[in-house]
Amino acid sequence: STLGASAAERGGRYFGAAIAAGRMGDSTYMNILNREFNQVTAENEMKWDATEPSRNSFSFGNGDRIANHAISRGMKIRGHALLWHQQMPTWARGMEGSDLRSAMINHVTRVATYYRGKIHSWDVVNEAFADGGSGGRRDSNLQRTGNDWIEAAFRAADAADPNAKLCYNDYNTDGINAKSTGIYNMVRDFKSRGVPIDCVGFQSHLGTSLSSDYQANLQRFADLGVDVEITELDVAQGSNQANIFAGVTRACLNVARCNGITVWGIRDSDSWRTGENPLLFDSSGNKKAAYNSVLSAL
Ligand code: XIL
Repeated sequence: STLGASAAERGGRYFGAAIAAGRMGDSTYMNILNREFNQVTAENEMKWDATEPSRNSFSFGNGDRIANHAISRGMKIRGHALLWHQQMPTWARGMEGSDLRSAMINHVTRVATYYRGKIHSWDVVNEAFADGGSGGRRDSNLQRTGNDWIEAAFRAADAADPNAKLCYNDYNTDGINAKSTGIYNMVRDFKSRGVPIDCVGFQSHLGTSLSSDYQANLQRFADLGVDVEITELDVAQGSNQANIFAGVTRACLNVARCNGITVWGIRDSDSWRTGENPLLFDSSGNKKAAYNSVLSAL
């Protein structure tokens, strides 16, 4: 069997990969994608700098290459990401206050409207919480437009595409810690006030161990009434790589509201973590031990 087909048999889950439009001419890459995966995320092509390179002028060519391929193969699409303090276009980086607020809401509205009906789940806001022990927001020009910027973004996305699941997505949230608890408190607040949030993405860029409370953390979010998704999984190569991949897979299957898992690339040579070999296929496209352990866990 394959990752996607096995995940689909487990309660209709997906097993996906981040892909790059620039690699879509590579037949080894495309063969693995089409054989194994039933969901895709654009690795960079739907980010703000790619989709709105100058103010109010939109560019969807590369995002569409990915989306059209996914649709033609029946793959779900995770939209990534409407707002993020990184990979902002140059024109927005120096902006602030109400001017930036209206530019960012316009961006959310226009991109979510363009892709309306095609997106399974959108990362509406990416990486807005600080690392470390504060549990608070990360400082950024987006945050300095006012603490309500995240809920304003979710309301704009909901108005533009009411059927997409709207997610908050972050990293270093792979267990119960100050950062994940800060996000948990925001989601609880949003649910209590009717802010339209549907899901939380756990990037899960992992090292050589997996927190023992990884599953418990997913479950506490699910218990708030949101779906959870593993959105950018990759694991440092090491003696534990296959076990960690399997542990994440089992944790997702054990949480009823965990919709699916996305790995952040196909082959090790496609990974943003250069030299870490953190994926399921080696640079020649062969299945690694980590692949076999994920497939057995599914
Ligand atoms: C990374 C891409 O993989 C790289 O190609 C790009 O140069 C930088 O961004 N968290 C995220 C992703 O949410 O968008 C990032 O993707 C990896 C970390």
